Amino acid sequence: MRNIVILISGSGSNMAAIVSASQRERWDARLDAGVASVISNRAQAGGLALAQAQGIATQVVDHKAYATREDFDAALRASIDACSPSLVVLAGFMRILTPGFVSHYEGRLLNIHPSLLPAFTGLHTHARALQAGCRVAGATVHRVTCELDHGEILAQAVVPILPGDTPQTLAARVLTQEHLVYPQVIARLLQKQ
Ligand code: GRF
Repeated sequence: MRNIVILISGSGSNMAAIVSASQRERWDARLDAGVASVISNRAQAGGLALAQAQGIATQVVDHKAYATREDFDAALRASIDACSPSLVVLAGFMRILTPGFVSHYEGRLLNIHPSLLPAFTGLHTHARALQAGCRVAGATVHRVTCELDHGEILAQAVVPILPGDTPQTLAARVLTQEHLVYPQVIARLLQKQ
C-alpha cells in the first residue's frame, strides 16, 4: 500500500475531498494507495477533526514551537518520512518551506493554488482577479519548487466570473472545482508511479 501525507493549516476541505476519493473502492482497488497521515502546523485547524472523523491519523507540528524555519521543517520532515509517502500533498498549508525541504521531496510534492497560475501568485487571489476584470478564474495544481506558487502545472480548473461576484462567492465556486481536480491529479500521478 502506498502512502500519501497531506499538510494543512485550515479548514481542510481539499484534504477531505482527497480522503474521500482515496476511500472509494475504485481508487483503492486501482491505486492501492491511502492517506497515511494529515499533518497541521496549527492545532486549531478545522481539518484535523474532519480527518479524524474519517479514521485518518493526524499530527500537529506547531511552527511556533521551533526557533527557526529550518528547525520546523526538520521536525515536519521527520513526521512525514515516518510514513514513507509516495506523495506529499499541500492542501491549504500556509507555511513557506525551505529549499532543503523542497528538494528532499522533489517530484513528490504538490500544491493547489486558487488562481490560474502564472496569474495571481500569493494571497487574495480572488479579490485580485475581480479587481483586474478577469472573466474567468480557477485553481492550479502544480509541483512545488523553491519559488512560491511556481513549478510545473499539472492541471487547472476554470470557472466563470459572474456579475455581482464577491471574493467569497468566487472562492466558493473555485473551491468546488478544487475538490474535483486535486484528487484526479493525485490519482493520475499514483497511476504513473
Ligand atoms: C484553497 O483555496 C487552496 O487552493 C488554497 O488554500 C485553500 C485551502 O482550503 N491553497 P481548504 O483548507 O482545503 O478548505
